[in-house]
Amino acid sequence: MELSLVIANGTIVTPNGTRSADVGVRSGKIVKIGTIGRIARRDAGEVVDATGCLVMPGAIDPHVHFDLTIGKGMTTADDFDTGTRAAVAGGVTTFIDYTTPEPGQRPMEAFRARRAAADPYVRCDYGLHNVLIDFKPEWRSDLAQLVRLGAPSIKLFMIYSDRGWQADDGMLVEVMGHARRLGLTVCVHAENDSLIDHYTRRVLALPKKKRPGAYGLALSRPPLCENEAVARAILLAGATGAKLHLVHLSTAEAARRVGEAREAGLKVSGETSPQYLALQHKRLALKNGHRLGCCPPLRTKVHRQGLFDALRDGRLSAIGTDHCAFTAAQKDTWGGDFTRIPYGLPGVETSLQVTWTLGPARGNLPIERWVSLHTDGPARLFGLYPRKGSLQIGTDADLLVWDPKVARRIKAADLQTNCDWSPYEGRALKGQARHVFLRGIEVARAGRCLRRPVRGKFVLRRA
Ligand code: URP
Ligand code: ZN
Ligand code: ZN
Repeated sequence: MELSLVIANGTIVTPNGTRSADVGVRSGKIVKIGTIGRIARRDAGEVVDATGCLVMPGAIDPHVHFDLTIGKGMTTADDFDTGTRAAVAGGVTTFIDYTTPEPGQRPMEAFRARRAAADPYVRCDYGLHNVLIDFKPEWRSDLAQLVRLGAPSIKLFMIYSDRGWQADDGMLVEVMGHARRLGLTVCVHAENDSLIDHYTRRVLALPKKKRPGAYGLALSRPPLCENEAVARAILLAGATGAKLHLVHLSTAEAARRVGEAREAGLKVSGETSPQYLALQHKRLALKNGHRLGCCPPLRTKVHRQGLFDALRDGRLSAIGTDHCAFTAAQKDTWGGDFTRIPYGLPGVETSLQVTWTLGPARGNLPIERWVSLHTDGPARLFGLYPRKGSLQIGTDADLLVWDPKVARRIKAADLQTNCDWSPYEGRALKGQARHVFLRGIEVARAGRCLRRPVRGKFVLRRA
C-alpha cells in the first residue's frame, strides 16, 4: 500500500540520538524510518522536504488551562478552540488539561463535563488531569473508573484557599493513599498557603510610599513558600507511596529536592515552565509588570540557572507551559493590588521557541534532551508513551518538522492565541514549527494553524 506522507531528507531527533532519515506514514501511523526510494516517494500522497530541519515527535504539553473560570466571571482568553489553534501552531500535538469541578461535584461528573466542553473543539489530541478540590470516601470508585477511562492522574492545589480549591495536608494524605492503590499519579501545585498569607499581610502593611506594586507578588511569595510545600508534598508522597508529580517548579531548591527524592528511590517527578526559564522577576516592577503575574511568581537568575541545570541533568523530566491566558484588559482589572491579579500566562504557542532559544540554540541543552523534555518525558510520566511522544514504527504519526534557521521577533498580533499580549513581545526567538502533523495530517505550517483538517481526540492514557 502507498504511503500517505513522506517526510524526506530531515534529521530525525529522538532522545537516543540524531540521524538522517526519511519518515513514511500510512493510516495515521509511522510505518517506515530510513531511506524511502524514488518510486515510493513518487507514489506517496504527499512529500515534504525537511532538508536542514529536525524531524521529531509532536510536542506534548502536560499542563494547560483552556476555558478556565477562576471566579468573579473571569474566564481565560483561550478556550479549547483558540487554545488548540495556538498549540498546534507552536508544534504541540497533544496536551493535558484539567477538569474544573464545582464544590461537591463528583470527579466522574466533572470529567464528563470537561470532555463535553473539549471534545467538539480540540484541534489536536488531549488528555485530562482530574482536579480534586474536595474528597469524600465514596468517591473512590470514581477514581477507579477514571483510571479505566484513560485519565489516571489527579491534581491537588496546596494553595488557593480563597477560591475553595485548596487540599489541606489531611486531604493530600488521603487522596495520595487512594492514588497509590489505584495507580493514579498525583500532580501537586506546591506552595504554602499560610506562609503566602503571612508575607502578603506584611507587604500590604507597608506605608503607601513603599508599596511595591506588582512586585509585591514576588515579595509575598518568596522561594521559601514553594520550597517548604515541595518538601512537604515529597514527605507525604514518601509516606503514602504515591506517585507524585510537582508542577510548574520555579526554584532551584525545589528542583534539587525533586532530584534528591528520585535518588532516594521515591516515585517523584517535576516539571518547570518556560516563564521560569525566560522571564526576570524584576519585570514585575516595570510598566505592565502585573501582566506577568503568575504563581509561583517569576524568580531571580539563580533560580533560572538552577532549573536549567535540573532539566539538563534529568532531575526535572518535562516542560509544561501552565498556559493560562488572560487578556490585557483582564489583567488590568488588578487596580494596583497585586493580590487581585488574575494569575497565569500564555505559553503553549511559544514554548518550543523559548526553550529552543535558551537551550540548544545557545549550546545550553543538548538537542536530544530538549526533544525529550517536550516529548517522551511527559509521555512517559503520564501514560502516553510510546503512542505519543516517540518516533517509532507503529506509533501515531504526530510529527514536527522543526526549522532551526528561522529567527523572528515575537509580536502578539502575529500569534494564534486569543490572548492580545505576549510576555515575549519584541523578543527575538529562534526556531519554528515549519510543518506540524497530527496522525499524519498537516495541522499547522510556519506558525499558522491550518483550517480544521482533522479533529483532535481524547487519548486514553495508561496508569
Ligand atoms: O498562575 C498560575 N499558575 N495560574 C494557573 C493555575 C495554576 O495554578 O496552575
Ligand atoms: Zn498551579
Ligand atoms: Zn496550572
